[in-house]
Amino acid sequence: MTEENQVVRPFRRPRRLRQTPAMREFVAETTLRPADLILPMFIADGLSEPKEISSMPGVYQHTTDSLLATAHEALDAGVRCVDLFGVPLEEAKDAEGSIAWDPEGILNRGLDALRTEFGDDLLVMADTCLDEFTDHGHCGVLSVDRWGRTQVDNDATLELYQKMAVAQADAGAHIVSPSGMMDGQIRAIRDALDAAGHQDVAIMAYSAKYASAFFGPFREAVASSLEGDRRTYQQDPANQRESLLEVDLDIAEGADFVMVKPAMPYLDVLNLVAESSPVPVAAYQVSGEYAMLQAAGRNGWVDLDAVMMESLIGIKRAGADQILTYFATEAARKL
Ligand code: PBG
Repeated sequence: MTEENQVVRPFRRPRRLRQTPAMREFVAETTLRPADLILPMFIADGLSEPKEISSMPGVYQHTTDSLLATAHEALDAGVRCVDLFGVPLEEAKDAEGSIAWDPEGILNRGLDALRTEFGDDLLVMADTCLDEFTDHGHCGVLSVDRWGRTQVDNDATLELYQKMAVAQADAGAHIVSPSGMMDGQIRAIRDALDAAGHQDVAIMAYSAKYASAFFGPFREAVASSLEGDRRTYQQDPANQRESLLEVDLDIAEGADFVMVKPAMPYLDVLNLVAESSPVPVAAYQVSGEYAMLQAAGRNGWVDLDAVMMESLIGIKRAGADQILTYFATEAARKL
């Protein structure tokens, strides 16, 4: 045989380590645990029965009873934390979102019901943001500046977040999660919690939160009143660097966890943050990511269970310690 005809035999064979399920499991670098997953849930005022959110199949606006039943299913599957959002009656909304710090407000009642039912067996996390409660749907109070421009007033909003976080801790939240992207919100909330004797209540900061169209279905989930967008306070999808600044500030201000949100379109940001963060890093696979996978799965275009697990392992591999996902219970059952 001439030299040209010789079969080339590779010396290094990476495929050796992919040959059997046992070998693949043996060399897997990333593992997903049920306890890594956080289930976001919605409780709505004035419902007699749970109501499915049409753009998020399998996700409901809950009554207190269905909230507790669904949280039990999550815990039974090994999920250790639920994140609660409140949907008030339309007539309870006002310009400040004051029902957010009323102990009888729907979110605080839901937190109380969860903590009373589960004690310390399930971590109860609260969404600490005003957009569900304001009649204009913004994450803070509005003011008009000298040039007639209406804007979300950062510093006036901080005081409201303080009242809201303390009310949530009083209601039994183990963790509060400020998601409004106001500057200085972590420091303000930490101070208020400490002054109220809630030193042990942790803060999960939505640190790098982008002004994302992937939040679309969430607007239906919370019956949001928002017209317009949140680009003056949430980050521009074009930017990576400012995420590091946001994370640094939140950690300096007392964040116990930081978060990157959404997850799949921002894995580079997640990876960057995870490389240097001295505190756990969470990622939020948001409503639009869930809706997209569900829609393709329901059409038979992708294998839903497979893409669900692949998306979650991908987010974990990119650096997430915790993942907020509407798939939490279903995914945990497969682990
Ligand atoms: C603000 C908040 C939002 C989400 C979580 N917290 C909406 C927004 O900022 O517009 C989105 C969650 C999701 O899309 O799943 N309270």
